[in-house]
Amino acid sequence: MSKTITLNQPLDMHIHFRDDDMLKLVAPLTAKTFAGALIMPNLVPPITTKEALMSYKKRIKEAQGFEDFEAFVTIFFQADYSYEFLADIKDEIIGIKLYPAGVTTNSETGVSSMDIKALSPTLESMSKLGIPLCVHGETNGFVMDREKEFMPIYESIASAFPDLTIIMEHITTKAAVDLLDKYPNLYASITLQHLIITLDDVAGGMLKPHLFCKPIAKRPEDRDALLKIAVEGHPKVMFGSDSAPHPKHKKEACGCAAGVFTAPIALQMLVQIFEENNALDNLDKFLSLNAQRIYKFKAIDKTITLVKKDYVVPSLYEAFSQKVVPMFADETIHWSLEQ
Ligand code: DOR
Ligand code: ZN
Repeated sequence: MSKTITLNQPLDMHIHFRDDDMLKLVAPLTAKTFAGALIMPNLVPPITTKEALMSYKKRIKEAQGFEDFEAFVTIFFQADYSYEFLADIKDEIIGIKLYPAGVTTNSETGVSSMDIKALSPTLESMSKLGIPLCVHGETNGFVMDREKEFMPIYESIASAFPDLTIIMEHITTKAAVDLLDKYPNLYASITLQHLIITLDDVAGGMLKPHLFCKPIAKRPEDRDALLKIAVEGHPKVMFGSDSAPHPKHKKEACGCAAGVFTAPIALQMLVQIFEENNALDNLDKFLSLNAQRIYKFKAIDKTITLVKKDYVVPSLYEAFSQKVVPMFADETIHWSLEQ
């Protein structure tokens, strides 16, 4: 008989669900296998009002297709949110996502200055209200150095607001791993692709647009540092796929959109990676328990069983006139969802 594994309450604490037809295509792929996910707010226009937030929640619920799934939504950071506004929506959101202006997809209206004084009004209210801050931590510098250059900004926010829970999203460097334990209020999410690939996989041979994302995958020593803290179940890191679907024609284009679409194969590949590293006992920490402790919530009871059986990843996910290419398209992976 094939080996199986049952995962409890798997959570994806960083994902892009988009809207409209793309939402309808991708949301069920996550809702099928995860107990919950943190949904990023970088729509066009981004979610900055209660009205937009509530109607997005409704659209997600209509699109998800599986009842046993909780979508945790976020709003897009603005430096001048009032305390009253944040107090009013506090129970509707799990966090607020901060994007420096222009560093990634749909971040044009992000913050133009990372000067702590300018950010303070909102950060102070968040700290008082206990709303976590999720951060896309990249500068506008040289592409390989953007995350490293952002470290002093994390340090200044973490020390100025010791009661604020700060999540360094999708970390890609040893520099970020090294910073993690320096501040008690600093945490991190790690994607699937950054546990596997380096820049060589993206651009070392033929250019691989479906592996292009921001932050870009870095050096082997960076990838190894991420893998180490993930498989050891480090208490301050959690899984956030950053699954970021873009239509096929926008990836296979001159001017390729940033984002790797991993939602349908994330669990299978995490099991594969943790098994390869003899760390299956730590998978529930990375995939569920740490996130529940860091964000202070209790996930719904949901288990999902995987079987050690080869699975050829579809070349395309297609519905509602949307086409998206997943990571590992047409390749064989070694774990499958139980049918
Ligand atoms: O590669 C990325 N894609 N990185 C991000 O930060 C945003 C995401 C997207 O929304 O497509
Ligand atoms: Zn993201």
